[in-house]
Amino acid sequence: MSTIANQNYRGSYHFSPKANWMNDPNGMVYFKGEYHLFYQYHPSGLTWGPMHWGHAVSRDLVSWEELDIALIPDQHGMIFSGSAVVDWHNTTGFFEEEPGLVAIFTHHAEGQQRPHAVQYQSLAYSKDQGRTWIKYEGNPVLRHETFVDFRDPKVFWHAPTSQWVMIVACGQSVCLYHSTNLKDWSLSSEFGEGIGFHGGVWECPDLFPLPVDGAEDQTKWVMLVSIGDHADYPEGSRTQYFTGDFDGRQFVPDVLSCEKIRWLDYGRDNYAGVSWSDVPEEDGRRLFIGWMSNWKYANMTPTEGWRGAMTLVRELALRTIEGEVKLAQQPAAELSAYRKPVLSLRSMTAEEMAEQLSGLRLESYEIEAELNASHSADIKVRVGEGHETIIGYRSVDSEIYIDRTRSGLIGFHDEFSGRHSASVSRGDGRIEVRIFVDRSSVEVFVNGGESVLTDLIYPGAAATGLSLAAEDCQLMIPVLRIYDLSV
Ligand code: FRU
Repeated sequence: MSTIANQNYRGSYHFSPKANWMNDPNGMVYFKGEYHLFYQYHPSGLTWGPMHWGHAVSRDLVSWEELDIALIPDQHGMIFSGSAVVDWHNTTGFFEEEPGLVAIFTHHAEGQQRPHAVQYQSLAYSKDQGRTWIKYEGNPVLRHETFVDFRDPKVFWHAPTSQWVMIVACGQSVCLYHSTNLKDWSLSSEFGEGIGFHGGVWECPDLFPLPVDGAEDQTKWVMLVSIGDHADYPEGSRTQYFTGDFDGRQFVPDVLSCEKIRWLDYGRDNYAGVSWSDVPEEDGRRLFIGWMSNWKYANMTPTEGWRGAMTLVRELALRTIEGEVKLAQQPAAELSAYRKPVLSLRSMTAEEMAEQLSGLRLESYEIEAELNASHSADIKVRVGEGHETIIGYRSVDSEIYIDRTRSGLIGFHDEFSGRHSASVSRGDGRIEVRIFVDRSSVEVFVNGGESVLTDLIYPGAAATGLSLAAEDCQLMIPVLRIYDLSV
């Protein structure tokens, strides 16, 4: 057993349950001033087991209060992933007095028919802001004749056609359904055959509109699809996206979406993420959170008493980058209120900056930097005890990477150690990076989030140093700022 097995890896500004196992984020919905986050939860174990929906709420997307378990397994099976909406106009008939929440989730029944299990979609509703839930007596509301894998419904109101739309994973594709009352569903279309990556089962889809480059009259639809782990792929489970058009019934992908596989994140640990429902129009953001792990090794990560954390909440946007409409991600702005400035340096040589960093000891923080696009540079975080995690920029390849080959307690799985990279555009000659370091994670947002890398790390508690190195130590680094984010 390693001597660093007892580290406190529970993030300071990332959500994780106080105890036991968590995977996918579920049912994210904004209602009456609270952001709700439900999640796949095993309340009596540290590995995946009979799934419940755990529950947490936040008013600022950073500090979360863990509440009682929301949904527990019943006669129809375990409670798998799904979504939640506000039924503003009582389309379900559940809310005579005032609008409330409806959860649409998968019931997973082990050992019934099919090869090994049956999955179908069900409803539960809450009249007290998600604190208690009533399962609908007509469950399940949607079955499929053939698919074994039929799960993770994401539901939203499609105003132009005045109907609810459900996107749900079915085998290696997604099915779209429509309904006026959330109880009776009709198939609209299927998407996925011959398009995108099929190296694993399709899971946790999402579908939503976003303006391109902020222009409200130029909207594109974005489809997210998570793809399960497969032994043939070292990347493990990961999330792809498509852009296209949607008329309420059918998603038509852009040509580029068909030709090229596009990943949401270039690190290994951002999976099963979907977006928030019912964020007020005047806010207008499309907010996203992912599960910060990977099915390749999720059950083995070296935490004690709890296992599983979420990514930062991120705002999604579509931006034209080098002629291509791409999905960009930025941390939700609320996080900046937690910044405690530590250091702010401008136009100094790499050597001088390294000197300024040498005395710092930090665990949970943000680095904001501008690098010169024509020179390589490395920023090292969580340095000490022989551990370090490198965030490197390589100018010859125009790529940024996280190297976690020396990131602490990493021997729990053969494929955990590694270097994960993303290509970056060189724009005006500067590369802008924001790096979020926490007790067991690193998230890197490049050039306003056009490329993002999310990786778990397990450094020793005393590995709190930082350093900087450039190919030429006399190289001028335009900007380097550090903010403590410990909560
Ligand atoms: C994705 C997933 C979902 C499923 C849930 C079960 O990580 O496999 O497809 O609903 O986890 O916990």
